[in-house]
Amino acid sequence: MGPTKHLKSQTEKSKWYEVELNSFNLILMLAIAFILALPLYNMMQKSQTSDVVEMGSEVAEVNIPIDVERDVPQVAMYSKEWKKSIQGTKDDVHIVFTSSCSGYQNWQAENLLYSWARIQHPGRITRVIAGCQTEEDKARANRTAVPNPENRIQFFFVPDYTPSRSKVLLEITFVIIIVVDWVCVDVSYRPFLYFNKPYGMLRWLKEMTKNAQVQEERELYESFVICVDPDMILMRPLLFHLRDVAHAFAKERGMQEQDYDKVWLRKGHPVSQKYGIGPKWTLWGHCPMDRPGCAKVDEKVAWNHYSVGPPYMMHTDDWLTITPQWVEFSPGALEKTTTFHLAEMYSYSIACA
Ligand SMILES: *[C@@H]1O[C@H](CO)[C@@H](O)[C@H](O)[C@H]1NC(C)=O
Repeated sequence: MGPTKHLKSQTEKSKWYEVELNSFNLILMLAIAFILALPLYNMMQKSQTSDVVEMGSEVAEVNIPIDVERDVPQVAMYSKEWKKSIQGTKDDVHIVFTSSCSGYQNWQAENLLYSWARIQHPGRITRVIAGCQTEEDKARANRTAVPNPENRIQFFFVPDYTPSRSKVLLEITFVIIIVVDWVCVDVSYRPFLYFNKPYGMLRWLKEMTKNAQVQEERELYESFVICVDPDMILMRPLLFHLRDVAHAFAKERGMQEQDYDKVWLRKGHPVSQKYGIGPKWTLWGHCPMDRPGCAKVDEKVAWNHYSVGPPYMMHTDDWLTITPQWVEFSPGALEKTTTFHLAEMYSYSIACA
């Protein structure tokens, strides 16, 4: 009895000591966090004001021939016949990208939109904008200097899918996480910044497919949707849904002739850029029970077929199947990976598998 008792009190003692040390650490960390957050906050305020360069107010001579020659006889856009008339043509494609509402991403978006117009990309393009705080911010994000007479460039607002409404709080939380992680205290909280892509896509898709007829511009007429990142620019049209274009690309890349159809985008056959994210997710056990095929994906298959990233190109019906799962698997993926921005790439892989 004696030794056990002795042991117990020893443990209690050391526990108490640890607690004391931890709370002291925590207070210290909070203090450091606040001190660090202040200049960050100031910097943010500054960058906010310097961002206010009015876009689109002075339309400098941006001479972009936005009227792309169409494959089809001219049919009024957004008319009932229009959907039918673009099917299987180069206009049958809709590019989407998600972004925040900051001045920084306004300019990124402007570059992307400009590149899209510059190469006379067929179809339409939508900027999904998450988390505008004020009407002013909204108005600033809701514009482009690129001529847009047919509204082929669209803006779509969604809420912010980051947990904190306040930017200052978010900054402080980040600093705390970094400091807390550094002292190896277990925190379950993780920032949700990168959720804007899957959540934003889902919101947009739902809205665009909600109610045909009444919505006109807010209807997804196109059969194919391509999701790109806001920090990309387009060098040439993404028309992989056209077999001859896809084949020409495959040939240019020196692919084997029997593989040409692999880059041909069609329903049930997505095409994406290969990235080196690898097969990590196959070990997480996140595959849902109702998709046994997902759990069967081994390292080799994961490398060969699921190690992908933007541009994500899929048929609209496939997007409608995949995106809810992409959203569903994102929090889990975020827990597993320390590189936050990869989480939503892994969850996309799981959703597709
Ligand atoms: C964005 O601008 C268009 C006109 O260009 C307008 O119809 C629309 O209501 C605006 N949206 C928001 C949310 O301000």
